[in-house]
Amino acid sequence: MAITIKSFPDLKKAGKRNYQEKIQTRLASKTISPFLRNWAKGKTFNLQTSGCQANVRDSEIITAFLENLGLQHTDNIYQANVVIFNTCAIRENAEKKIYGELGQLKQSAKEIPQKIVAICGCMAQEEKPMRYIKEHFPYVNLVFGTHNIDSIYALLEACLTSENRIFDVISTTGEVVEDLPSSRFDKTKAFVNIMYGCDNFCTYCIVPYTRGRMRSRSIEEIVKEVNSLKEQGYKEVTLLGQNVNAYGYDLKDPNSTFDKLLEAVAQTNIPRVRYTTSHPGYFTEDVFKVMAKYDNIMPSLHLPLQSGNDNILKRMNRHYDSKKYLDLVKMLRSYIPDVYLTTDIIVGFPNETEEEFEDTLKVCKEVNYDNAYTFIFSPRDGTPAYYMPDDVTYEEKLKRFNRLKEVIDTSATISASKEVGKIVEVLFDTVSKRDKTMISGYSRHFRLVHVKGDPSLIGQIRKVKIIESHTYSLIGELLSE
Ligand code: SAH
Ligand code: SF4
Ligand code: F3S
Repeated sequence: MAITIKSFPDLKKAGKRNYQEKIQTRLASKTISPFLRNWAKGKTFNLQTSGCQANVRDSEIITAFLENLGLQHTDNIYQANVVIFNTCAIRENAEKKIYGELGQLKQSAKEIPQKIVAICGCMAQEEKPMRYIKEHFPYVNLVFGTHNIDSIYALLEACLTSENRIFDVISTTGEVVEDLPSSRFDKTKAFVNIMYGCDNFCTYCIVPYTRGRMRSRSIEEIVKEVNSLKEQGYKEVTLLGQNVNAYGYDLKDPNSTFDKLLEAVAQTNIPRVRYTTSHPGYFTEDVFKVMAKYDNIMPSLHLPLQSGNDNILKRMNRHYDSKKYLDLVKMLRSYIPDVYLTTDIIVGFPNETEEEFEDTLKVCKEVNYDNAYTFIFSPRDGTPAYYMPDDVTYEEKLKRFNRLKEVIDTSATISASKEVGKIVEVLFDTVSKRDKTMISGYSRHFRLVHVKGDPSLIGQIRKVKIIESHTYSLIGELLSE
């Protein structure tokens, strides 16, 4: 099959920043040609999503594009006429998984006429994996990136009419696209993008290359979206960005800062507001003040530490040291004493010494996290850390990972056990996966709580008495209203 390369990923270009260039805001293109609408009749799609909330949100948008075209969703990846993998590039195992899943589609790609197998998302923005896909998976016939989701109709049409494989990945700083269609996966909680991209270039991280320059949406657009969600009956919004504390830096408007945005969102009176991810190097006290002032801003914070050692933090380009981090936690707890605090930590950064790793354990023991996401460093092609010499064996990294996990599990278990006997408010959102007679949801503090009950609880905020604790979940009894 012939290949049309409109544009191929280019990491060097993707990593360039030109701060003179003004960020463009435009409306999404949503025009559907009669040809495409006609083709879509009676046809189906399947969308596989990996990665973070940014990808989940993008998948909600892609789903809406496909549904508006007239395609029906199917769970059957083999029979679907259009299969899209919305991929993640953060660690190597995320990528390996995709190759495995693609391999399973070989037969059905032959059997279903004009089957479209597409890759999009962060992995599509990477050079080496896309060269690999180009050579080893000839039935992947469409590749697009994180910057051109709303070209999807034109790309599908190009694929169908030319019968060529289309590669269209733009390595650019990016725009802000408004008026995107959306088909939300959850009816209770919603993600709201407040900014795209990232300019931090932590030396291990691929995100600034796959998602472009940091660019903020306007407060007006964000508040409009939250108000509309509230009117639709949503109970919770999570404001999304790779570094929410830097919100507005690009807008250069003193009224567009994260604390002001958070306050404006709280004032919509939507019952629950959360946000993620915050960066310790950019926090201002004003954000804590706003959190403490509004009852509908939930008392939880995800504050990635990455490492507790100052030398490693410097080599990671994180712009804070362990003292600054610990001072920030102290300040946070002075405003919200019972805050539920979680973090991200990477072990086995290139040449990390035993002593440097022990500093991470020390900070964890001092902070007493309620939960943490821990990772073994995964070299990402094109990032500075990829080229750093590394004398730490994988076995040693694994040992450190397990030692860290033990420290985190201990503090999480103790923290959860203190909840027994308390009465908490839970927003129920799912039937428990393990036990269908249990309904699950999150407390204000972002603790997972299960109670005996029926699905009519979903979407409700109810008082629950906690009767049992596990490391990462609680069991409770529903109190009558
Ligand atoms: N913007 C967010 C989240 C980025 S990705 C932040 O700055 O916190 C989520 C987490 O993945 C990161 O916090 C980091 O702990 C981890 N991560 C990122 N790149 C990684 C890599 N190359 N190897 C291992 N873990 C990584
Ligand atoms: Fe990656 Fe750092 Fe940006 Fe987070 S802040 S997305 S870890 S570069
Ligand atoms: Fe993965 Fe991209 Fe998110 S690399 S973690 S999907 S921003």
